[in-house]
Amino acid sequence: MIYIAGASSQLGQEIKKSGLFSGAIFLEKNDLDLSKLDSLEKFLNTKKIKTFINAAAYTNVDRAESEKSLSSLVNSHAPSLIAQYAEEKKFKFIHFSTDYVFDGEIKEPRTEISATHPINHYGQSKLDGENSILKINSHALIIRTSWLYSSFGNNFVKTILKLANERSYLAVIDDQTGCPTLATDLIKATKLGHEQDLKGIYHFSNEGKTTWHNFAETILKLKRVKTPVKAIKSSELITQAIRPKYSVLDKTKIKTHLNIQIRPWTEALQEFLKDFS
Ligand SMILES: NC(=O)c1ccc[n+]([C@@H]2O[C@H](COP(=O)([O-])OP(=O)(O)OC[C@H]3O[C@@H](n4cnc5c(N)ncnc54)[C@H](OP(=O)(O)O)[C@@H]3O)[C@@H](O)[C@H]2O)c1
Repeated sequence: MIYIAGASSQLGQEIKKSGLFSGAIFLEKNDLDLSKLDSLEKFLNTKKIKTFINAAAYTNVDRAESEKSLSSLVNSHAPSLIAQYAEEKKFKFIHFSTDYVFDGEIKEPRTEISATHPINHYGQSKLDGENSILKINSHALIIRTSWLYSSFGNNFVKTILKLANERSYLAVIDDQTGCPTLATDLIKATKLGHEQDLKGIYHFSNEGKTTWHNFAETILKLKRVKTPVKAIKSSELITQAIRPKYSVLDKTKIKTHLNIQIRPWTEALQEFLKDFS
């Protein structure tokens, strides 16, 4: 059986909607709480698992600074336990990680073997998760992604459209560069990665790069919303966590191994916004 944890995440809901993992059992936090290692262990001991996809995570980057134990439990200790059982019981483990494992000091796309150096606790907890999975399990697939959005949950695209309708102008930072990822594109690549039994770390986002400011302007332009977007520096925003200034992922490895092309972020966004109101 395929089990998918994080049924309410953007990714979990989009996986369900896509129907690509037919017959899979989707687990809400109430069904499987990754912060409760005893019940997770009981689950892993008793279920007949063919594949475990972890679409759950502690994703609040700012709050992770003050909830370090909880974020580490969910993003590192729980994935490590799943990886251990996957190795022992020979099931496939697919896990997701983040561009925030990088510090953003080098302004060139980062590959899977580029040096990691997280600058916030969320990034550290996700990196700890990656490292502990890979130490225990040689068959696990970890896909690092960035700036994820979908029609479900909370994300930048939905927030910008909502705020643009409520405010006379928006202020968005223009000194962080990354690349948006449409969840449905990530899921198609994940499905192929599962079929072709990829192992180890792979990067996936849409192609290209942008700043949050240009991302916001592009969203509003495509939706023909006239609200102006003022460019500000991240130093003007008081946040608990600092974020990398540059976190574009190099996708050469996944494109080569899966023999796929990845569409530019602007094309994916355009298609997404056509149907999104
Ligand atoms: N969003 C991004 O921009 C982004 C960027 C890079 C990488 N990623 C990675 O991509 C993956 C999917 O992210 P996403 O944006 O789809 O996530 P999301 O929408 O923020 O959802 C996270 C989910 O995890 C669940 N969760 C939190 N603590 C849990 C626990 N203790 N036990 C079980 N479930 C728990 C939450 O459940 P409740 O809602 O019930 O709390 C929520 O449904 C994650 O691994 C994330 O780190 C995301």
